[in-house]
Amino acid sequence: MTRTDQATSKRPAKAKGRARAVAPSPLPELRPGQSVELLQELHILTREGKLNQDSRRKLKQVDHLFQFIEKLLGELKPHAGELTLADHGAGKSYLGFIVYDLYFKALGSGHIYGIETRAELVERSRQLAERLGFERMHFLAMSAAASTNATQVPASIDVVTALHACDTATDEAIAFGLAKQAQAMVLVPCCQAEVAACLRQSKALQLARTPLAELWRHPLHTREMGSQLTNVLRCLYLESQGYQVTVTELVGWEHSMKNELIIARWTGHKKRTAAERLRALLVEFGLEELLTTRFSAQS
Ligand SMILES: C[S@@+](CC[C@H](N)C(=O)[O-])C[C@H]1O[C@@H](n2cnc3c(N)ncnc32)[C@H](O)[C@@H]1O
Repeated sequence: MTRTDQATSKRPAKAKGRARAVAPSPLPELRPGQSVELLQELHILTREGKLNQDSRRKLKQVDHLFQFIEKLLGELKPHAGELTLADHGAGKSYLGFIVYDLYFKALGSGHIYGIETRAELVERSRQLAERLGFERMHFLAMSAAASTNATQVPASIDVVTALHACDTATDEAIAFGLAKQAQAMVLVPCCQAEVAACLRQSKALQLARTPLAELWRHPLHTREMGSQLTNVLRCLYLESQGYQVTVTELVGWEHSMKNELIIARWTGHKKRTAAERLRALLVEFGLEELLTTRFSAQS
């Protein structure tokens, strides 16, 4: 057991359902017991243990997201006895490390998989996890799509997260979640180019067909409409595949422009109307090809 592991009791305070004695937090922004060493390693805290403007924003985002994830983790019955979480487009793995530090560490079981295409970030995360003794964190240098069939990842995963995973990486994370029968998916989409590119291609045709195409005539609107439509399609897809979906803000808009939080919880009720509306929207916007690429799972 490492320094950081020894600092807390065996189970998260919430999971135990009673208060525990922890060292007072050195900063009001930190949670009781939160590892200062980890936050310094992630450069969220400076060497002097302070927050700057950027890192305060990052911490606020991740902390807020953690509150949603913590609630889900507390309610789930793990597929395989131990909780599993896969974080796609992990980057420096802020989210994975913070979820491990605040939940999995004291739980004493469960595994977190960080999936990221940039090998150098994966290697850094591996080294950091080793230094901190976060031995149930695993890092894979591959795309979210490739991780679905990776032998290092279990056949089922309880929670899928994707925080600002670029472009279609969020769609890959959703496909991963469906394949792994995820009980919950927590998605904060990033920029999206795929649907905007399709809208752009058929713009002239659509403008001749419907006044609604005015909604994406100007290039800026094409991009915005593409993003908005993508997230609407993702939600319908999840509903058609047996998930109950909630869409909310992650933090106030002043903190991040990419602020939409989609939480999907498995209920097993595959909504037929959602599948029908998904198809109708794709036809209406001239995006039928996405039915065979992005939204191909059967309802
Ligand atoms: C904007 S960063 C977000 C990183 C981290 N989740 C965060 O919020 O700090 C997006 C990350 O997704 C990674 N990425 C892009 N496409 C990916 C894919 N298809 N599969 C996995 N990772 C991907 C990028 O390399 C990048 O590190």
